[in-house]
Amino acid sequence: MTTILVTGATGTLGSQVADRLRSRGADVRGLSRRSPSYAVDLRDGKGLDAAVEGVDVIVHCASTVRGGDDRAAGFLIEAARRAGVPHLVYISIVGVDRVPLGYYKLKHRVERMVEDSGTGWTIQRTTQFHDLVLRLVTGAAKLPVLPVPAGVSLQPVDSGEVADRLADLALQGPAGRVPDMGGPEVRELAELAGAYLRATGRKRRIVPVRLAGQAYAGFRRGGQLSPRHAVGTTTFDQFLAGRLQRPV
Ligand SMILES: NC(=O)c1ccc[n+]([C@@H]2O[C@H](COP(=O)([O-])OP(=O)(O)OC[C@H]3O[C@@H](n4cnc5c(N)ncnc54)[C@H](OP(=O)(O)O)[C@@H]3O)[C@@H](O)[C@H]2O)c1
Repeated sequence: MTTILVTGATGTLGSQVADRLRSRGADVRGLSRRSPSYAVDLRDGKGLDAAVEGVDVIVHCASTVRGGDDRAAGFLIEAARRAGVPHLVYISIVGVDRVPLGYYKLKHRVERMVEDSGTGWTIQRTTQFHDLVLRLVTGAAKLPVLPVPAGVSLQPVDSGEVADRLADLALQGPAGRVPDMGGPEVRELAELAGAYLRATGRKRRIVPVRLAGQAYAGFRRGGQLSPRHAVGTTTFDQFLAGRLQRPV
């Protein structure tokens, strides 16, 4: 039986990856700070050796926008090397090398750490998940008007479809950097916000706002998009129709 450690197993993506791998017969260990079985803070690495012992594959989904992903990856890679784990799968984001956002720069650095880790590796970059877009517009819609960054488009993808892909990759051998995975449609954020308002029956004026800074300029140039890899099938509207049956 294949033993797989999924980091970030309490998160949006990691929980679905763990479910899929279990249903495909793998022995899955779920790690995160709040995990009931492998409660590890990757930023200090305590408890990691026990978590990686005897593991065939690590799927690294743990991450935080609050900083420290490179430090966390360093501890994980060291532990993987000590235990002789032959395959590390890393989930990254389309445009980490094109949009100069602090979080993206760190993820790009982690990609290079994985590539140089000396262990077998696979890196999958995807576009933003529908869940993230929903969270962003839900937050913005709490205001009397709904502000969105002007001129920015996204190509959101279903996190369940990404989980399917990661499970496939985990069960194959190391594949290096695999083709990007994008959602089925490129749409302006203002349009995505409109879809959210229609689906929820809320009424707000959508206000495009121009922002300063290099990261915003990178998003406006479309560095986060991958139209040639529009392989996801679930649209944002379809995702909303399913998701809004449950409380947001
Ligand atoms: N969201 C998107 O649109 C998107 C798009 C492309 C790629 N990705 C990538 O996909 C991955 C997963 O994203 P997600 O949206 O599923 O994230 P998420 O829902 O925020 O989950 C993050 C997970 O990481 C764990 N975690 C955070 N800090 C940790 C630490 N110091 N030690 C151990 N575990 C830690 C969290 O659990 P605890 O709080 O219990 O520790 C949680 O399980 C990330 O690498 C992200 O960059 C996301």
